[in-house]
Amino acid sequence: MPKPREQEATAIKVEHVKKKYLLYHERHDSLKDLILSGGRRAKYEVLWALDDVSYEFKRGHTYGLIGENGCGKSTLLKAIANILRPESGTVTVDGRISALLELGAGFHPDLSGRENIFLNGAILRLSRAEIEARFDDIVAFSELEEFIDMPVKSYSSGMYMRLAFAIAVNVDPDILLIDEVLAVGDVAFQRRCFRRIKEYQAAGKTIIFVSHDANAVKDLCDEALLLDHGKIVASGLPMNIVSAYFELLSKKEAARRVKSGEETDVAGDDLSAATQKRYGFGAATIKEYAFLNAAGEPVKSIKSGDRVRVRVKVEFNDTVPNPVVGMALHSSTGLDIYGVNNAYTGQPIAPKNSGDWLEAEFVWDAWLREGNYSISLGIVDLTDGTATPADRWVDAISFDVAAGQEIIGLFDLRADITVTENG
Ligand SMILES: Nc1ncnc2c1ncn2[C@@H]1O[C@H](COP(=O)(O)OP(=O)(O)OP(=O)(O)O)[C@@H](O)[C@H]1O
Ligand SMILES: [Mg+2]
Repeated sequence: MPKPREQEATAIKVEHVKKKYLLYHERHDSLKDLILSGGRRAKYEVLWALDDVSYEFKRGHTYGLIGENGCGKSTLLKAIANILRPESGTVTVDGRISALLELGAGFHPDLSGRENIFLNGAILRLSRAEIEARFDDIVAFSELEEFIDMPVKSYSSGMYMRLAFAIAVNVDPDILLIDEVLAVGDVAFQRRCFRRIKEYQAAGKTIIFVSHDANAVKDLCDEALLLDHGKIVASGLPMNIVSAYFELLSKKEAARRVKSGEETDVAGDDLSAATQKRYGFGAATIKEYAFLNAAGEPVKSIKSGDRVRVRVKVEFNDTVPNPVVGMALHSSTGLDIYGVNNAYTGQPIAPKNSGDWLEAEFVWDAWLREGNYSISLGIVDLTDGTATPADRWVDAISFDVAAGQEIIGLFDLRADITVTENG
């Protein structure tokens, strides 16, 4: 039986930590600026990178820190590592911390890899003898034998990371802080890092791991924290916190869309159209859309192979002689995985006039690999073979596919295997 959480030993206690940065604005020294500001120009803005953060990190657990760029993840790790001094609040740490923060932080560019190992060891308060005893293991783990006497400024990002990780995990820390850096390692090295992290977990060390890779967080961590504007807005099971994160992102996306919709509305055929979120000539408007499960309930997350329905409701504001309604599915890296519309399937829709409407439903089985996907929607007029967008909504829907049956590649083509054998 594991102990109740409150009885577990605390490794790191963060109490009411606040960290602010002053953002200095560029000086606009035009006469008009001076007159308008009456000479009292605001010179800076206060940004709370950490806004009253409190948390108890228990010994022997692995925590995942997630959130948008600039939400304060690295700042929190630096406060824990005692690299920056907060404005107020306290951080109490029980044990030796080893931190893998920004790439190259803690390295001296003109010194060789060898010298940097000694430098870092000294920063971690290891004696020369202790560093010498670990030196070979560090170099072996980094696989940088041939480069160890070159200045680290000649290293690639991946080589920096190898050396930093090798040092961090060979100085026998009780607490390991890892800030996103693993992503720059090659696949083989990443795998070795993850294996080493798992050894650390088994040895009962405390780990805080910042990552934008939701799968890595779900796989490695037993607890996750979601940061937003310098505050912890959710904490708990990684699975739940990752969904909360995606929900937060789609809420912000929707808010941004409303804002930019007011500003640009349906734009013309200018070149920037392809990168806009929503564009078209306005002869029709996507009024509503929904991503539903087989039972017709709205969902954000599905399992691989689930039957889903994408429903779109369109209202016409003008005559559209040949309406074509479609959807496209994209991977999180922006790859177009699939697209379909009623013209491809040979199902013409009758001409529409102002005040008319239509509702379309696209039903398919989502045999997709685990991950985050988006769907774009569109209504176009296909008169004389030319597609004129009436309303196109890029990445309107975002959803998650949870791990199910293992899929090699992007999606499952549901192959039937027939084997003919002798004997
Ligand atoms: N040295 C600094 N000077 C001024 N502002 C800073 C400084 N370091 C961080 N900030 C600001 O503090 C906020 C939090 O930054 P932080 O680096 O902690 O974000 P993050 O969550 O790690 O983001 P990312 O995912 O991009 O790594 C950001 O708005 C950033 O602009
Ligand atoms: Mg960061």
